[in-house]
Amino acid sequence: MGRIPIREILDGSLEGRRVEVRGWVYRLRRLGGKVFVVVRDGSGSIIQCVLDKVTAEKFADEVDRLGIEASVVVEGVVRSDPRAPGGYEVSVSRLEVVGESHNFPIKGGEGIDYLLDNRHLWIRSRRLTNVFRVKDTVLRALREFYRKDGWWEVTPPILTMSAVEGGATLFPVDFFGKKAYLSQSAQFYLEVMIFSLEKVWAITTSFRAERSRTRRHLYEYTHFEAEAAWYDMYDMMRVVEDSVKYIVGKVLEERSGELEFLGRNIRPLEIAADEKYPVITYEEAIEILQRKGMNVKWGDDLGADEERVLTSEFETPFFVVKFPKELKAFYMKEDPDDPRVVLGFDLLAPEGYGEVVGGSEREDDEEKLVSRIRAEGFDLGDYEWYLDLRRYGSVPHSGFGLGVERLVMWIAGLDHIRDATPFPRFRDRLYP
Ligand code: 4AD
Ligand code: MG
Repeated sequence: MGRIPIREILDGSLEGRRVEVRGWVYRLRRLGGKVFVVVRDGSGSIIQCVLDKVTAEKFADEVDRLGIEASVVVEGVVRSDPRAPGGYEVSVSRLEVVGESHNFPIKGGEGIDYLLDNRHLWIRSRRLTNVFRVKDTVLRALREFYRKDGWWEVTPPILTMSAVEGGATLFPVDFFGKKAYLSQSAQFYLEVMIFSLEKVWAITTSFRAERSRTRRHLYEYTHFEAEAAWYDMYDMMRVVEDSVKYIVGKVLEERSGELEFLGRNIRPLEIAADEKYPVITYEEAIEILQRKGMNVKWGDDLGADEERVLTSEFETPFFVVKFPKELKAFYMKEDPDDPRVVLGFDLLAPEGYGEVVGGSEREDDEEKLVSRIRAEGFDLGDYEWYLDLRRYGSVPHSGFGLGVERLVMWIAGLDHIRDATPFPRFRDRLYP
């Protein structure tokens, strides 16, 4: 029989069969002439492979070359053994060391700084392996959903000439002697493209020079964004809700072993996959927070603390809509019924996680847009092309951005966003 992923062996149906396992040495122990090699592979699982005395002697040269994280090929018969991790082990008849590894730098118990310095090796940990398997499914489900639903994938640039989300978080770059910026959001390019394709989406890397270091901010993150002509804010919220439900459903269906390894309580995810997401206004959010004893008033921003308190009111993800204009980006459409607020929405994940999606209906009135751009202190000349969209066949439209690592953080139940991305950047560390 050919090469088998460890996770499949642990499913149980291969008992008594001869298998080949390829992987890396996770643990190594010798006991009374026997050798116990626990092997991990890309399936995020481990299996104990046992060389009895005779086999250990036969493969003595190979056994001598074993070390933690050596890559190996092991052949043997699957046996059930309640003492083995996962309940099965491989009774080895052949061992081959492919790549030796001696004195692997991570031994367990190291601090976070050391681990981040060795991220290229730490990435092999079972925990991160399981997280990135969940992330793959999140990304795949996102793409699946939007393909099925008749949207077009497009490829906006990362090098940009103007701010989308305010000047404070821009990363400048030198573009042949001119100042350019790393993209904060592909939104404006997506807005351009709805005039031909109508419903578009993109996955790009967004950059934010965030001032404060928090557990839910990255300087570089994976941004899923969608934009559609003829959609009002509520149309777009429905798409957001349906797609998040679809993703959570897919992860529950396909990544239950990974969630279990990560210790994730799946009940909140089951609820999120099924139940309707409530909608509250910003004003109602403020009232809830005041009732809960928080010192906030209309006009204050909802930070991580406020969001955490709000999430304790809901079992599912929920929307907060209609924020004061001053709190939101200039492109959000003014509410025709209340000019103090904009038709913007955030989707907050429950269990304390908070914002995972931000979106809005877009301002399509050229004059209002111009005065908002001026109020931001931006140079109008930088936005002429954006204003053109309001001059030539303007159309009501809406869009949103979803932080993929934020979503993975919640779904996988992580307490820090850095583990939802393979190579997180920090101010004092641009490595590896
Ligand atoms: O709310 P934001 O800033 O909205 C926009 O960028 C819009 N232009 C998107 C659009 O309408 N096309 O960012 C969208 C999402 C947030 O809800 C959050 O999930 C994520 O991007 N995000 C971050 N994720 C990780 N680290 C950061 N520093 C993030 N900043 C935003
Ligand atoms: Mg936001």
